[in-house]
Amino acid sequence: MPVCYHAASKTFHLQGKTFSYVLAVREDGTLVNLYWGSRLPDGEITYLMDGYQGSASFDPLFGHLPLEMPTRGTGYYGTPAVCAMNAQGNDLTCLTYEDYTIASGKAAIPGLPATYVESPDEATTLIIRLRDKLTSLCADISYTVFEQLDVLTRRTALVNEGSEKLTLTHMQSASVPLYGRDYDLVHLKGSWARERAVVRTPLGQASVRVESQRGASGHEENPFIALCEKSATEHAGSVWSMNLVYSGSFLATAEVNNQHNSRLTIGLNPEVCRWQLAAGETFCTPEAVLVYSDEGFNGMSHRYHTLYRTRLCRGEWRDKPRPILINNWEGTYFDFNEERILAIAERAKEIGVELFVLDDGWFGKRNTDNCSLGDWVVNREKLPCGIDGLAKKVNDMGLMFGLWFEPEMVSPDSDLYRAHPDWCLHVAGRPRTEARQQLILDLSRVEVQDYIIKAVSDVLGSASIGYVKWDMNRNMMEYFSGDQTPDKQMETQHRYMLGLYRVLETITSSFPNVLFESCSGGGGRFDAGMLHYMPQTWTSDDTDAVERLAIQYGTSFVYPASSMGAHVSASPNHQTGRATTLKMRGDVALGGNFGFELDLSRQSPEDVTEMRRMVEDVKRLRLTLQQGTFTRLESPFESNFAAWQFVSADEQDVVLCCYQRLAMPNPASHRIFLNGLCAEAKYRDEKSGKIYSGAALMRAGLPLPRPMGDFTSWVYEFKRI
Ligand code: DGJ
Repeated sequence: MPVCYHAASKTFHLQGKTFSYVLAVREDGTLVNLYWGSRLPDGEITYLMDGYQGSASFDPLFGHLPLEMPTRGTGYYGTPAVCAMNAQGNDLTCLTYEDYTIASGKAAIPGLPATYVESPDEATTLIIRLRDKLTSLCADISYTVFEQLDVLTRRTALVNEGSEKLTLTHMQSASVPLYGRDYDLVHLKGSWARERAVVRTPLGQASVRVESQRGASGHEENPFIALCEKSATEHAGSVWSMNLVYSGSFLATAEVNNQHNSRLTIGLNPEVCRWQLAAGETFCTPEAVLVYSDEGFNGMSHRYHTLYRTRLCRGEWRDKPRPILINNWEGTYFDFNEERILAIAERAKEIGVELFVLDDGWFGKRNTDNCSLGDWVVNREKLPCGIDGLAKKVNDMGLMFGLWFEPEMVSPDSDLYRAHPDWCLHVAGRPRTEARQQLILDLSRVEVQDYIIKAVSDVLGSASIGYVKWDMNRNMMEYFSGDQTPDKQMETQHRYMLGLYRVLETITSSFPNVLFESCSGGGGRFDAGMLHYMPQTWTSDDTDAVERLAIQYGTSFVYPASSMGAHVSASPNHQTGRATTLKMRGDVALGGNFGFELDLSRQSPEDVTEMRRMVEDVKRLRLTLQQGTFTRLESPFESNFAAWQFVSADEQDVVLCCYQRLAMPNPASHRIFLNGLCAEAKYRDEKSGKIYSGAALMRAGLPLPRPMGDFTSWVYEFKRI
């Protein structure tokens, strides 16, 4: 049973395939977390509370308890999970157990993205209600166990059943205590063009914040946090992790208290979000996905990948092979006309590409990035036949046509801004700070949401458009609204996200055939919230193959390969100036949704031939690449090499990708150790015809050739025989 309640001990035991999560209600009504880790047999573990009975110290016992829903002012001194300021002006919030329900399935969260079930037997949901007896604030904590997928999700609905307005100051999605402190902290840090570097540090007795206050999940941190045993590796050891299904500002914390116990928390960022909860109203937190793995970080990633690929992403494209695309951005930037675009499309068709994507610069008078955002009307000087005419010509060549938008933005030099200067985020009397010469539309306003829905839908309805790249190229500064009363100004960031999700829900369901890819200056909003609406994301504006090893490796900690856009671009690379071979660039792009981003019409005949071969390879392998099991084998953060493998769902095909950064004189032999194969089975290397046992590939490893020159790559295809 995924969820058991034991009335005598008032304990709840949640069980996935390999994990247990145990809660208990104490006599005083406090809800505590007794355990999260490897699966336990169902039974009595309330004896664990004995460890807390005798605590005598400067702090009250309460503060030392493994609280499941800690609040402030109660003797707990860490990041609170919930806090509400009441009409008396204090934020003391005391939540005690009231009742519970257990039901099959999983309900949607109104207005927010979330994981889902396709039939009620896929998951079981426990809802525990806590209540503050003084204010009548209720916290309905929902836990959903996806037993087969082996994950737990958690969120809270805060319901004001009292008669006075409350101000929510903390509304975290999950807060979980862990026994002990001897953990390493892992998070994904970066910047524009250097997203999601894997950072692992000893936690010690510290409080660490991993956060964004930018109004987007951001390039700097990802809404992901994990603790692991010191000995945990990619393939072994315990890992406890949380990922937030949300695309705006967030806070994740890892804390160790003075009793040497740890806690992980994730949710909205209280620095930039406060919410007025009037009598009778409900506030829903975003969903947190909790993954425990006793098979190291790959075990954790496998669980996220399967859940996100199959029960977070939605729509027609969720399970379809993703088209190989050519995007003109790095090929032309703003300097294009119809003739140049068609020349690229023609060459793309020749090499087997399936989708042409027209990037920024097709609308208004946008020949540089200083104008026209908001004016989603084609520039006929550049494209005299319009988007419909161009799309038709591209379709006639046998390619799908895709289009770039940046719908959440407005340029001060635009008809939209001249007509509606109050439609951007701003504070009256203060400057409106531009970044990339643009301002952010105030998506907390319904009329702005409706404008975006209409503007984008009009274009999509006017031409044969099969793909949309939805970009967002700056973060929030004056994140307030001209449309809200003073007491609700601190709600603007979250209201913006709710508005964005409404826009995305409306547009993606009106155009179910369109493949949507999200983007934010590359990977500045690569999160599970966006993946609910758009099954792929542009991973990074850094298209340098060597840099991409680290970016794609880090991204894969949480997000599946089928969600990562990966393109072959020009050499020398536009972000780093580094020269790499076409083979290396292609082999790296194989790690995600493969595409090209360079002027194909200007490539040498030899390169065109090689590109045609790459496209054939991707088409042959893409089911394995997009729907197989992805496993990291060697980290670019730890060595001169990187390696990962894909195993097809039927376990018959294995694609092994290996990379070496710098060449070395007199190098030692370097072996790659595959993982998760069948030890008894035989595998044939499809290129050399050599046959290996699964046991040998995993235990003895595969020696790489000794290359001359920097930036080398090898892709092996093995067939199980
Ligand atoms: C940022 C994106 O990440 C790029 O790929 C490109 O679309 C530019 N914006 C266009 O302005």
